[in-house]
Formats: sequence, C-alpha cells, structure tokens
Amino acid sequence: MAPTVLIVGATGNTGRSVVETLPKLLENTKLASHRVLALTRSASSPSAQALAKLPGVELAEQNWVEIDNAWLREHEVVRIFIAPHVQTNQFVEEGQFLVNALRAGVKYVVRISTAAPNVRPDILAYYARTHWAIETMLSQPEFKEMHWTSLQPNIFLPLALRATVEFIKEFKRTGKQSPLSVILDTSTPTGMIDPYDIGVVAAHLLAQADTTPHNQAKYVLNGPEDVTGEQIAKMAEQYIGEPVKDVEFKDVSFVDQMAESSPESKNVIRSIKFSLDAAWDGKAKAETTSKEILDLYAPKRTAAEVLKELVEG
Ligand SMILES: NC(=O)c1ccc[n+]([C@@H]2O[C@H](COP(=O)([O-])OP(=O)(O)OC[C@H]3O[C@@H](n4cnc5c(N)ncnc54)[C@H](OP(=O)(O)O)[C@@H]3O)[C@@H](O)[C@H]2O)c1
Repeated sequence: MAPTVLIVGATGNTGRSVVETLPKLLENTKLASHRVLALTRSASSPSAQALAKLPGVELAEQNWVEIDNAWLREHEVVRIFIAPHVQTNQFVEEGQFLVNALRAGVKYVVRISTAAPNVRPDILAYYARTHWAIETMLSQPEFKEMHWTSLQPNIFLPLALRATVEFIKEFKRTGKQSPLSVILDTSTPTGMIDPYDIGVVAAHLLAQADTTPHNQAKYVLNGPEDVTGEQIAKMAEQYIGEPVKDVEFKDVSFVDQMAESSPESKNVIRSIKFSLDAAWDGKAKAETTSKEILDLYAPKRTAAEVLKELVEG
C-alpha cells in the first residue's frame, strides 16, 4: 500500500471534481506516490462507476460514518477530503470521523463548510451552526497535529437553479407557464458557485506539498460573478421566448416540503429557511471570495453556463 488521500463524498456535488482533478495534480510532485481512494456507499451506482474508470483513482465501498481509526491506519490515510452530510446528527458523525482521523495520525483535512456569513454560533439555520461547531472543535489546541482547511462556499448553483430548470422544461413540454420560483431576492446581487469549482479548489489544496500556509484557514468561495433574482427570471425568458408571467422571489417554500417529509424535528428542518437571509442582505457577493482562493484556483463557472448545462442535460 501507499500513503493515501481519502475522498469522502466522492460521488457528490463537490467530491466528483476532487477525484477528477487530484491524480493529475499529484503527478510529478513530492506526493506522486500517494494513491487517491474514493469512497461510496454503493460501488454499483452510475456515479461511483464513472469515478472507478478515472485513471489514478481507486474506489472503495464504505460508509464513512462507520470508519474508525484502525480503518484509517490500515488504509494508510494521510490526507482527507470530506463533504459531510447535513443531517441533524452531522456534528456527531463528522466529529467522530475527525477525532478518529486525529488519532490515526492523519496530517491534513479539507472539508466543505457552508456560506461564510452563516458560520456563527447564533445562526438560526441548524446545519450552519453545526459547521461552526466542527470548525470550533478543530480550532482547539488538541487538534494542532492535524492541519485542516474549511471551505465556506456560497449557495450551489444547481440547487438554486433547480426550480428554474423545471419551469423551463415544463414550458417546453406543455407550452404553458407555471409560476417561477426563485430563491434569490429580486435585486440583491449574489455570487452563487458551481460545486464543480469547489472540488477543483479542494484538489489544489490537497496537492500542496506544505499545508502550513492553509492550516486552520476558513476560505470564502463564491462564483465569478453576482446575479440577482431578476436576472435569473430574464435567463428563463430567453429559454421560453416570452415574458415570465408570475415569479416569486425569495421563495424557500421547498423547505416546508423537506420538513414535512423528514422523520427529524420539523422545527429544526424548517430553520434551513434562515440560511438565505445573508444572501438577501447582500452579504454573499462575488467580491467576498478569499484572496487565497483566487490565487489557488479562481472559480470560473457562471449561472448562465450551469443553467444551459442543466436545461440541455
Ligand atoms: N447545497 C448548497 O447550496 C450548499 C452550499 C454551501 C455549502 N454546502 C455544504 O456542502 C456539504 C455537502 O457537500 P456536497 O453537496 O458535495 O455533498 P453531497 O453531494 O450532498 O454528498 C456527497 C456524498 O456523500 C454520500 N452521502 C450522502 N448522505 C450521506 C449520509 N447520510 N451518510 C453517509 N454518506 C452520505 C453520498 O455518496 P454515496 O451515496 O456514493 O455514498 C453523496 O454523493 C454540506 O455540508 C453543506 O452544508 C451546500
């Protein structure tokens, strides 16, 4: 076996591009002998199968929440990428995983956090408070032997554009408009980001020979440009070829549906609605991206590009 970079969440929004990008970045570096091990709970899923075909990538069927420090030592894990789930037990499961990583002698972790203005102890949205709690745990002196970087990305474009894509596809199918739901405010600019770009940033961090400059860093990641709710509605009009008749901005009613179908506390799940306040208040603009991220790999993909891909895909 060889020293291993473990990719947790490899089949997901951000993990896929970590796996696609990292092997190439490791070539001809001090880390060239490291293997890239991508995890999935289901090796037969189409997304896992696609990763298994990539050169320089090994795939393992293993639920990360069941990994202990013996597993990490046995697989010679020295660096980790993790895109944690946002269930209400995230602190318990990600916290356990990170303590195991510390005890197993892992040297560096790159993790996906959430939008920077929301990572605070008094945020109403429960999952953002969980990210704050994990970062606070990692900041304690007991963790000093394990370097870490937390990436704090803005709203992911595919999530924010999902209702717009459905609106366009339905119009193309039926010739009729249903109301258009947009989660952004009408006129407040927001730098939403494609998770593919986030994974590429994470791969660049994981390929650094010396992780000291990025240790304990919390980096802000936005897309390359701001868009408003009104601009999203205009983009939809270009696809349907007529004015949008009925549009609701700041629409987070999908969270009520999530709460209804969740077995967890509905009160807690409904708190997700408050995660949009920062964007509506103009605190999540493209200009807030950390300089270190622009130097490493500046996010490139725009809302228009992602919308085109989703509509045509
Ligand atoms: N969505 C947004 O707009 C947004 C914005 C900012 C930050 N974030 C943050 O992004 C993070 C998630 O990153 P992501 O979207 O890249 O991840 P993801 O796509 O939601 O999940 C990554 C992978 O993790 C595995 N997984 C999912 N749920 C799991 C569970 N309960 N237990 C074990 N494995 C599970 C799945 O892989 P397999 O099925 O192959 O095992 C999945 O493909 C969250 O912490 C969230 O706060 C999201």
